[in-house]
Amino acid sequence: MLFGFAGVFPVLLACILALAFEAAAQAPAPDSPAIEAKASALVAKLTLEQKIELLGGEDRMYTHPAPAIGLPRLKMSDGPMGVRTWGLTTAYPGGAALAATWDPALARIVGESLGKDARARGVHFLLGPGVNIARTPLAGRNFEYFSEDPFLNASLAVAYIEGVQSQGVIATVKHYALNNQEYNRHNVSSDADERTMREIYLPAFEAAVTEAHVDAVMNSYNLVNGVHSTQNEFLNLQVLKGEWGFQGILMSDWDATYDGVAAANNGLDLEMPSPRFMNAQTLLAAVKDGTVKESTIDDKVLRLLRAVLRYGFLDRPQFDPSGSTYSVADRAVALEGAGESVTLLKNEGHLLPLDPARIKTIAVLGPNAYPAVTGGGGSSEVQAFEPVSILTGIADLLGTGVSVLYAPGLPGEDEVFRRTNWEGGVKVATYQNGDFTGSPEVTAVDKIADWKPSPWGVDNLHPSSIRYTAAFKAEKAGKYLLLAAANGEDAFKVLVDGKQMLAHARTEGQVPQSATLDLAAGQKVSVEADYLPHAPGVRLGLGLIAEADLISEDARQFAAAADVAVVAAGFNHNTEGEGHDRSFGLPWGQDALIEAVAAANPRTIVTLTGSAGADTRRWLAKVPALLDLYYPGQEGGTAVADILFGKRNPEGKLPVSFDRSWDESASAAWYDPVKGADTALHVTEPGKNPVDYVIPHVKYGDGLLVGYRYWTTTGKHPLFPFGFGLSYTTFSFDDLKLQAATAAGATVAVSFDVTNTGSVAGAEVAQLYVSDPSAKASRPERELKGFEKVRLIPGETKRLTLNLDARAFSYWDAAAHKWTIDPGKFIIRVGNSSENTPLNAELKLN
Ligand code: BGC
Repeated sequence: MLFGFAGVFPVLLACILALAFEAAAQAPAPDSPAIEAKASALVAKLTLEQKIELLGGEDRMYTHPAPAIGLPRLKMSDGPMGVRTWGLTTAYPGGAALAATWDPALARIVGESLGKDARARGVHFLLGPGVNIARTPLAGRNFEYFSEDPFLNASLAVAYIEGVQSQGVIATVKHYALNNQEYNRHNVSSDADERTMREIYLPAFEAAVTEAHVDAVMNSYNLVNGVHSTQNEFLNLQVLKGEWGFQGILMSDWDATYDGVAAANNGLDLEMPSPRFMNAQTLLAAVKDGTVKESTIDDKVLRLLRAVLRYGFLDRPQFDPSGSTYSVADRAVALEGAGESVTLLKNEGHLLPLDPARIKTIAVLGPNAYPAVTGGGGSSEVQAFEPVSILTGIADLLGTGVSVLYAPGLPGEDEVFRRTNWEGGVKVATYQNGDFTGSPEVTAVDKIADWKPSPWGVDNLHPSSIRYTAAFKAEKAGKYLLLAAANGEDAFKVLVDGKQMLAHARTEGQVPQSATLDLAAGQKVSVEADYLPHAPGVRLGLGLIAEADLISEDARQFAAAADVAVVAAGFNHNTEGEGHDRSFGLPWGQDALIEAVAAANPRTIVTLTGSAGADTRRWLAKVPALLDLYYPGQEGGTAVADILFGKRNPEGKLPVSFDRSWDESASAAWYDPVKGADTALHVTEPGKNPVDYVIPHVKYGDGLLVGYRYWTTTGKHPLFPFGFGLSYTTFSFDDLKLQAATAAGATVAVSFDVTNTGSVAGAEVAQLYVSDPSAKASRPERELKGFEKVRLIPGETKRLTLNLDARAFSYWDAAAHKWTIDPGKFIIRVGNSSENTPLNAELKLN
């Protein structure tokens, strides 16, 4: 059933794009003495007050205007997976998905499309890409970012930024720097040594500046080594503007500024979304008393004006009607992105591709089957026009004559709360204080089912604390789901028979918390929940229900009746997103659903939505096929269907190591140590100066050993390694050639053959890893330093050449404070994952 996908999609896409971008392309003009002179002349026309006004944003998504010099306010839009701020738009695959394509040329096309979408909406700044390292699978925004590897991140970021900026739109690389978790993001300090920063966390930013010449950088919320990034001298002045020569605008994340003078003196050029700190009140006085120099203010204004002149914002409208706001060309780009990213992780007995001619009935089940899950939650969340769900993608591909049976398979949270049978009701003790002391008002309820949305940012003016006490009797033996959800910044903990099973500290956002209990028939447990609402009212749901009762009867029936079953599982915009980290386990009930479907139908395929690894242990051995989708954007459903039925050959490769369990993941031991502690004491409102709280420090004790660097250095193996992904064909790697010896610092050309040894066309990603066994400093066992995707028809061989520059062999010498190559032996390995490198050769650098 396979038909010639290799080559056809990229060619079609290129044609569509060539037409679409002809009109819009408008690369920024290079800097020139004329721009410099003009920018200086404009600054000279502004009073100090007018200059200070330009250092703060307005109306959440604009810079401030300067009518005295004819400067309009400049419009921004969130990215990175769509121009999301100004209404419906195209939702492209998220960063993790883009990274799974290992295709910088495609990242550039996505960037161009985004630039064009921005121009069609008059947007000057796109707030993307996000390039933070996926240090832990739990980090809530990994789906926006790219991967666990700095080289892959840098390659994609450069292409994406060049694409956006080629359309006359400023790209904003974010979040600088070390924003590797969402939990407690306004307060937490990421503490890493300089070598770790230089080798792992900074290279993508560095490449964005030095290679792609990005014109805006956004600081992160978190502190770095104890200093807010918006006032971090090391990051902003020494590295970004000093060593890397950044000429553009350094803006804050929204409400990530804490001190106007410190920010002004330590590199921040633009405080977003409004001048709460870098304002006239603070800075006029500071200039007057000499704590901030006027030349420092001038430098910030000059940066803005240079960019304005470079992009021609004063000479042309930013709105470009030659782009469409609804675009067929964009849809093709989004589809190609999704298609290239979907990663086949398991395909036992070659179940896939399915032959549509042999399918009469298909069951499409699971919470992510419908509606489409295009992206995670938060500021990147795009409202797409007609996102294609997995259900509709499959049904459209199969057409009439095949029956498609759909069921989500699991109830909603509210239903779990309502269906829980507490024995003898629930005692509710409400205390008129926040610490469960004194005599409470005691009432009783049948259910704990008050979970509902509530406004954020409302302080608990009349603090209260509520203790729920209940008993539960298991009617049958088996696994039971304990589920709790609250809203906004509410905090809670749940104890079963005195043992804490669930906890949620008072932070931004909430994800339902769940645990599995094994109960015997007739077993009785006591349940106690302590709840701290952040605002007046109650927004808590708590349930305990047998897993066997969770799975809907129709899902079981459909699975049993179908020739093949697809379970669309994973995370969504509620369970994975900005402001909170996620669980390693799948959202509640999904393990049980997959097990139930697999028990009813041995031909069960699981699709997984989520930025990185998740716990598959309960069911992976029971299902023959697994596809990882990341967040595929609006065309994900079509891409999945095309791959399931062989209209496309999967070619995605994991951009992260897929761990078996959270405990074994490389950074688990070094993940936020304050999680679960009473952070209510430490949380300040965003933007307020956190004077009296203890900064929680996350020590990056994992150092360089992030992701596959950890796995390959320790000799242990994750479930699926970084760079891994199956295809419907097979490839071989042969005939590796490189110079045996050369001078340290010279570029080394590495060439080899890749052959399609199977019977269908497909794409392979050749990955080159460098090992430095004779280095004086200890280095990770291998590091990715080159890659290339190649499309081959059956039997075809292509010879690839990857060039390794000096940096490919270097490490950051902390004592010498520079990139260093230790002469001696290096090993060059080539293959198709971080663990499968069939070609290797030694190289001597003198
Ligand atoms: C996010 C940024 C985003 C900004 C504006 C912040 O909460 O961290 O990534 O660009 O909001 O929406």
